[in-house]
Amino acid sequence: EKELVVARQKFFHQEKMAAVGALAAGVAHEIGNPIAAMSGVLQEMVSTQEPSTSGKLAMLQTHIHRLSAITREISEFAAPQPVVRQLLDLNALVRTTSGLMSYDKRMQKVNLQLNLDTQLPAIEGVADQLTQVIMNLLINAADALESVKDRTLEIVVQTAVFNDTVRLTVNDTGSGIDKITLNRVFEAFFTTKRRGTGLGLALCYSIVTGHNGTIEINSTVGEGTQVLVSLPLPIDEEST
Ligand SMILES: Nc1ncnc2c1ncn2[C@@H]1O[C@H](COP(=O)(O)OP(=O)(O)OP(=O)(O)O)[C@@H](O)[C@H]1O
Ligand SMILES: [Mg+2]
Repeated sequence: EKELVVARQKFFHQEKMAAVGALAAGVAHEIGNPIAAMSGVLQEMVSTQEPSTSGKLAMLQTHIHRLSAITREISEFAAPQPVVRQLLDLNALVRTTSGLMSYDKRMQKVNLQLNLDTQLPAIEGVADQLTQVIMNLLINAADALESVKDRTLEIVVQTAVFNDTVRLTVNDTGSGIDKITLNRVFEAFFTTKRRGTGLGLALCYSIVTGHNGTIEINSTVGEGTQVLVSLPLPIDEEST
């Protein structure tokens, strides 16, 4: 009974995310055209203007580039991706997701560091779902940093090969989680936030286990939290 309700709610959460994604892609696309037009006009003006105005025009151009970078990132992020498993570059997913998250208001004061293994092998998975995992973990980390005042606000995302797995680690210097709370964080609808749904980590859990992986959390109150996601290396077809 309860399982079914939870499953429905998770489905609803995913559907909502997909709808938001589609909307964002549409908006990004619509905004992209006028931006490209403006950029073209400016380019022409820069080459024909006298020095004093060309400086200002160059500045405008910088801002326009930034706008188009934002819309590009949104469309890359929101582009409908296949629900089938494919070989994926986890580092690329981390880069795109954190690039997009850096526009989030919560991230403004946060030092977000990517520590990505350049030799990371491809993993097999559903890009859309793994993106959701990364995003949920980053949002949780950013939320945990909101109340911190006595130390640097830092999130470090790391990828590495560990034993037979590809491991993604998200470390934050946020509030930390006490033992009693930690026992419940993967429960659907468990939240300590005023506006939380409590589905973020439940969703992460089902996505990661659906990928035959594991997710673990270590935390110290007043120091921070570490989330470890381990995903199996793809089975080598040739050797079997
Ligand atoms: N990095 C973290 N630092 C501190 N507490 C955390 C962290 N991640 C999760 N938690 C705790 O676990 C709870 C459950 O997290 P979960 O992501 O499932 O839901 P939520 O963040 O509260 O809501 P939602 O994800 O729907 O916005 C949070 O309310 C918070 O108490
Ligand atoms: Mg959450």
